[in-house]
Amino acid sequence: MSTKLTIRPVTANDLVSIFEIETQSFGTESFNRRQFRYLAKSPTCHFVVADIDNQIGGYLILTTRRNSKVLRIYSIATKPRFRGLGIGEKLMNYTKDFARINAYNAISLEVKEANTVAITLYQKMGFTSISKKMDYYDEGENALVMRLTCKV
Ligand SMILES: CC(C)(COP(=O)(O)OP(=O)(O)OC[C@H]1O[C@@H](n2cnc3c(N)ncnc32)[C@H](O)[C@@H]1OP(=O)(O)O)[C@@H](O)C(=O)NCCC(=O)NCCS
Repeated sequence: MSTKLTIRPVTANDLVSIFEIETQSFGTESFNRRQFRYLAKSPTCHFVVADIDNQIGGYLILTTRRNSKVLRIYSIATKPRFRGLGIGEKLMNYTKDFARINAYNAISLEVKEANTVAITLYQKMGFTSISKKMDYYDEGENALVMRLTCKV
């Protein structure tokens, strides 16, 4: 991508664009605006956006639990017209850097078993499937639990 991509903390002004990406990505299973406002302020969330020349190209929400050394990817999505350009991979590399800098032992996530695009991205980043959660999503779909052990 020839334009400049910056990964930076979310601000209140980003939430309209993020909500648009969310509904385009997850439809009826989207977080609502109130949930995003909550996540943006939560001390246990690390919420960032991919800013491409002042446009929001994607977002990433990481969560942490007290006394846990496992970082969780809570949500990640990129804007449909910016897909396939490397933004998802940059957000995943950001996650790996964040985990290393903050001394996490592992990164984990859940993904719909049928979401082959996201699963391909996670496998490319070194994640492997460690278990399955049956009927995890609203429509009764199963989740794959994927994990990456962080190198010290
Ligand atoms: C998954 C998602 C974040 C990927 O974002 P992206 O910006 O398009 O990803 P990138 O361009 O960085 O692609 C990186 C890798 O992902 C995989 N990938 C991306 N698009 C793909 C596609 N259409 N088919 C298969 N693999 C694909 C490839 O491994 C790709 O690497 P490559 O270009 O060397 O083949 C994006 O498709 C998205 O927002 N999907 C909807 C929301 C979602 O499903 N989020 C995950 C919920 S768990």
